[in-house]
Amino acid sequence: MSTPDVAPLLEGEPVHDQVVFETRLKRYWPDLLSALGGAYPDQAPEMARRLVVIAAENFRQRPADLRLLDLRRHADPQWFSRPQMVGYATYADLFGGTLAGVGEKVDYLVELGVTYLHLLPLLKPRPAPNDGGYAVVDYRAVRDDLGTIDDLRALATVLRGKGISLTLDLVLNHVAAEHEWARAARAGDPYFRGFFHMFADRALPDAYEATLPQVFPDFAPGNFTYDEESHSWVWTTFNTWQWDLNWHNPDVVYEFADLICWLANLGVECLRLDAIAFLFKRMGTNCQNQPEVHAITQALRTVARIAAPALIFKAEAIVGPADLAPYLGVGKHAGKVSDMAYQNSLMVQIWSALAAKDTRLFCAALNRFPAKPPTTVWDTYLRCHDDIGWAIDDGDAASVGLNGFEHRHFLADYYAGLYPMSDARGLVFQENLETGDRRISGSAASLLGIEAALASGDADHLDLAIQRLLLAHHIVLGFGGLPLLWMGDELALRNDYHFLDVPDHADDNRWVHRPRMPWEAAARRHEPDSLEHRVWHGLRHAIAVRAALPALDAAVETEIADPVNPAVLVFVRRAPTQTMVEVYNVTDAPQSLPRWVVPVGNWAVDALTEQTPLTDGPLLVAPYQTFWFVQPV
Ligand code: GLC
Repeated sequence: MSTPDVAPLLEGEPVHDQVVFETRLKRYWPDLLSALGGAYPDQAPEMARRLVVIAAENFRQRPADLRLLDLRRHADPQWFSRPQMVGYATYADLFGGTLAGVGEKVDYLVELGVTYLHLLPLLKPRPAPNDGGYAVVDYRAVRDDLGTIDDLRALATVLRGKGISLTLDLVLNHVAAEHEWARAARAGDPYFRGFFHMFADRALPDAYEATLPQVFPDFAPGNFTYDEESHSWVWTTFNTWQWDLNWHNPDVVYEFADLICWLANLGVECLRLDAIAFLFKRMGTNCQNQPEVHAITQALRTVARIAAPALIFKAEAIVGPADLAPYLGVGKHAGKVSDMAYQNSLMVQIWSALAAKDTRLFCAALNRFPAKPPTTVWDTYLRCHDDIGWAIDDGDAASVGLNGFEHRHFLADYYAGLYPMSDARGLVFQENLETGDRRISGSAASLLGIEAALASGDADHLDLAIQRLLLAHHIVLGFGGLPLLWMGDELALRNDYHFLDVPDHADDNRWVHRPRMPWEAAARRHEPDSLEHRVWHGLRHAIAVRAALPALDAAVETEIADPVNPAVLVFVRRAPTQTMVEVYNVTDAPQSLPRWVVPVGNWAVDALTEQTPLTDGPLLVAPYQTFWFVQPV
């Protein structure tokens, strides 16, 4: 099928821009058709034509400065894999009060070296409770207390001017029960009923439930909610007031394609595809990671490539290793699905290695990952706004002599501070009595012993806890990917128990690690010897060092060496212009590594300290010490 004639759609646009659009369309048309064929085999050609019209309409609306950004990104399509890229995630209100307030704090981010800012949901949600904004009533309006769409556009411009790319959530698995689509569906409008999964009785919901897990077993058990007004059971994977959209319906695709381009035209440069794993439902499965999810993502990304190619996609798929690869594209889809994906296994394995003081499971689990497409990037992180789920694979655990269930149990106990000698101060989130799962909330500093060390006043303990926090971030910065810092970790913010006083937050302890930014604590980063100074400068230094290391370009794969000394992680990264060997002691005891484990000459410089500690003898590694060995420049 040949590319549609778009000339009439672009009439009046500068000739140069028409050519640009047509060139992109030619390039991406086959990808669009094949993607749609994967999810909507009978309707692909018709859908593709509709989507091209949507792309063209939005291209016409694309402001000149963003068209220029598109061209810049074309000149450096791998811009998001560069070692200068560092992300920061926060809620706009907690960080800056309003969108304009965030704009006033941008220099703080610049000082830290941030080049990418994820502001958690800020499009208009239902009134609380709204799952931290993940229950949207209007995708074309901003939360009242934060400002307006114009403020959002202005903030994106300010950020762009400072070299920071704005990321927003695209909550596309569900809408708030109060969204106009849901209201119309409830009132019986057949067109909008088609936007949701609504059932007259429990027959199908029960059949689906047989194989569905529960996301919030504690405060929203089950996956369906009875709606009195429409007398139907509505699919609600998350909370009862988050209605799952029916992505089997092409009209949903058109709505989101248009929305994606519209957000890109505001200056949004990355969309975090929230809960993307859950999009497509299939009887007899857990309704996650269905192949159609990837086909739909590819189709939506293709539309963006044509209309606004500066936009990239990040998949929020918190799934196991085998399921994760297709989010970045495998086989003929390689590099065509999302541009980035959260490296959830890395996150879990860092916590596991630190608790167990043993890296064998880390190595087994991470070594199982197939190489990702070189044009795509992991999003590496230690903490985010969510809880930590102990995604330890039973097979991986068994391969290193552990029992998966017992290890998950140990990690939950350890980080809840229930394990003997644990200095972690986490809270148990969503205990599932059927499976024994216990997820954990808590800030990085509290989970890593800083809260306990401050309470005991033990300076040595505090030193070790700070080293541990820095080491964990070094792994995040050194693994290869776009590292994402969670607000406050750069200042070692501890748990904030005030969430208990906020009625809408009290039953969701993820708020313990979502504090309001204490700017007075941030100011202490300039006071030598303060906790904030030590953590901020440790992190800031590593970020600055990292930015100059070509081996840390995210396109390079990390090789994980065998755990010869299980207390020490060794990564090797071979870029065309630089080889880098990273060494991390995940324990509070000094360790030594046989010299042959570090495959680099004695001339190698530790980029973090600019020292050359390698000799012909074993390498000594202090508690929680990091080495980033590279050849001197
Ligand atoms: C994602 C978000 C989480 C939210 C859920 C439902 O997992 O990170 O905070 O509860 O989606 O939208």
